[in-house]
Amino acid sequence: MLRAGGTVAFPTETVYGLGALAFDSAAVARIFEIKRRPSFDPLIVHVAGRAMLDEVVAGVPPAALALIEAFWPGPLTLVLRKSAAIGDLVTAGASTVAVRMPSHPVARALLEAIGAPLAAPSANPFGALSPTHARHVAAHLGARVDLILDGGPAEHGIESTIVALEPRPLLLRPGAIPVEEIEAIAGPLDREAEGAPIVPGRLPQHYSPATRLRVIDPALVAPAQRQGAASLALSHTFGGYDVSRALSSEGDLRVAAARFFETLHELDAMGVVRIDAQPFPESGLGLAIMDRLRRAAARNS
Ligand code: TXA
Ligand code: MG
Repeated sequence: MLRAGGTVAFPTETVYGLGALAFDSAAVARIFEIKRRPSFDPLIVHVAGRAMLDEVVAGVPPAALALIEAFWPGPLTLVLRKSAAIGDLVTAGASTVAVRMPSHPVARALLEAIGAPLAAPSANPFGALSPTHARHVAAHLGARVDLILDGGPAEHGIESTIVALEPRPLLLRPGAIPVEEIEAIAGPLDREAEGAPIVPGRLPQHYSPATRLRVIDPALVAPAQRQGAASLALSHTFGGYDVSRALSSEGDLRVAAARFFETLHELDAMGVVRIDAQPFPESGLGLAIMDRLRRAAARNS
């Protein structure tokens, strides 16, 4: 299907991706159509190994090589200068390309079998909650996708961390690898993307459920206001809400991240009037979770 220019949703260790041959611009255009994604939003290219990476980028600077050695295969996306083979649609006209080598065995087997890089954004409608199960892809993209490969629940549950290296190391999106682990190898990362183009993962509103969501400590919400609503927190549940979910009773941020989008999908389908989500500590994986929560809440403000 991919070789014929089709689109195939596949599991990765972060979230499900919607793939097409990165070198086939008509197939890449189908991804934008299916997701209703604006063409100014560039895609991540997935590779199986170094040879495939070299087809996609114009060179690998030493700082990138150190990060590749430390974190690939795995949930780190690097923004590097693109090769001539990568078309403008994939990069939204930029001279750089976002690239990563996934660790999920199904994603790897697919890339190796096809022998060519796959452009793949998250397999969700633009701006909506990311898919961590094949059933999320089926529910929200369904018949518009040629095939969905079911690899079970995504391990990390939150997208890859995106880092640009030139001119200076820069964090573009907090994600499944805590920024502290990347800084231990690359040195301090700039957090403010001054002068950098605004890409949709950085739009104020993104990753949104249909239900209104606000970031507030449920413990501070008056009992009368809990009626009809849902609470979402790290390790606590709260009385008086119609439904109250803790992401990890042990307070384990890895478990919380893995269940984050899945739990939001579930709460979103319950018909509650509002979701009150507890703020997360902004270090380790908490930074990525809080980033997604803020953007999910921005829709309503
Ligand atoms: O974990 C992930 O990264 C998942 C799985 C499927 O690999 N993919 C994913 O793709 O999250 P997507 O399209 O939902 O998010 C890609 C982000 C977008 O916010 C996009 O704007 C940014 O990467 N991006 C892509 N190319 C870029 C570039 N050249 N410069 C800066 N940002 C870029
Ligand atoms: Mg996405």
